[in-house]
Amino acid sequence: AEQPKLIVAADAEALAQAAAERVMARIAANAGRIAICLTGGSSPKKLYQLLGGAPWRGKIPWDRVHWFIGDERFVPDSDPLNNMAVARATFLDGNAPAGHIHPIPTTADNPDRSAEAYALELQAFYGSESLDPARPLFDLVLMGAGPDGHTASLFPGFPAIEETERWVVGVPKANVAPFVPRVSLTLPALASCREMLFEIAGHDKQAILTRLFNGETLPALRARSNGETVWLVDRAALPEGIRG
Ligand code: 6PG
Repeated sequence: AEQPKLIVAADAEALAQAAAERVMARIAANAGRIAICLTGGSSPKKLYQLLGGAPWRGKIPWDRVHWFIGDERFVPDSDPLNNMAVARATFLDGNAPAGHIHPIPTTADNPDRSAEAYALELQAFYGSESLDPARPLFDLVLMGAGPDGHTASLFPGFPAIEETERWVVGVPKANVAPFVPRVSLTLPALASCREMLFEIAGHDKQAILTRLFNGETLPALRARSNGETVWLVDRAALPEGIRG
C-alpha cells in the first residue's frame, strides 16, 4: 500500500473543515451508492457536527449514502460510550434514512457474536464474502490514532491486528479507556476503501504522532488503504522540529 499523504491544518477547526471537504469529494466521486465507515472517540466529533449543520447537511445526498462504523465499544446503544450512538446523535438521526445507518450490534451474547453478525451485514451489503481489490468495500474510512498507537480497536500486540481472513473480530479487552470489550473491523476490511482518512489533532497527540513519524510499526501506521491514505494533522499535534 502507498505511503500516507500528510496534510497539515492550522488548528482543530480547520482540520474538521478539511475533513468535511474530503468527505464531500468522495461522495461527489461516486454517482451510485456510497459507503462511509465512521469512527469513534473524540477525533471525529467536530467533523460530525459540521456534517449535521449548514452548509454540509444540505449538500449530502442522504438517499445514496450508507454509514458504517469501524469499531464499537461493547456497550448498549443507549450508552453514551457507544460510538454509533454518538454519530447518530451528532448528525445521522433526522438526516440519514434509518436503513442506511449500519451499527455494530451490541445486543449479542459476546463481542465475537457481534463481530460475526456485522461481518454478515457487510458482506450482504458488498454482495460477496471475499474482497475484490478492484471493487472497494468503502468509499471512505475515517480513522483516529490513540495514545498507544491503536486505530479502530486494533491495539498494539493484540492478535486482532494480525487477522488476515475475518472482516470483523471481537476484542475481549481494551488497551486504553474505556476498558470495555470492543468489536473491530480488521486491517484487510478497513483497507478495502478508496480513501482512509486519519484525523489527528491536538497537543495530546504529539507524542504518538512522533512515534508514528519515526516509523514504529504500530497499528495506526499499519492501517493503510488499498487506495489513498491521508493523515490530516493539526499543527498542535506535529512533532517538535517540523512545526515550522
Ligand atoms: C474508539 C475509537 C478509536 C479512536 C482512537 C482515537 O472507539 O475509541 O473508534 O479507536 O479512533 O481511540 O481516539 P480519540 O479520538 O478519542 O483520541
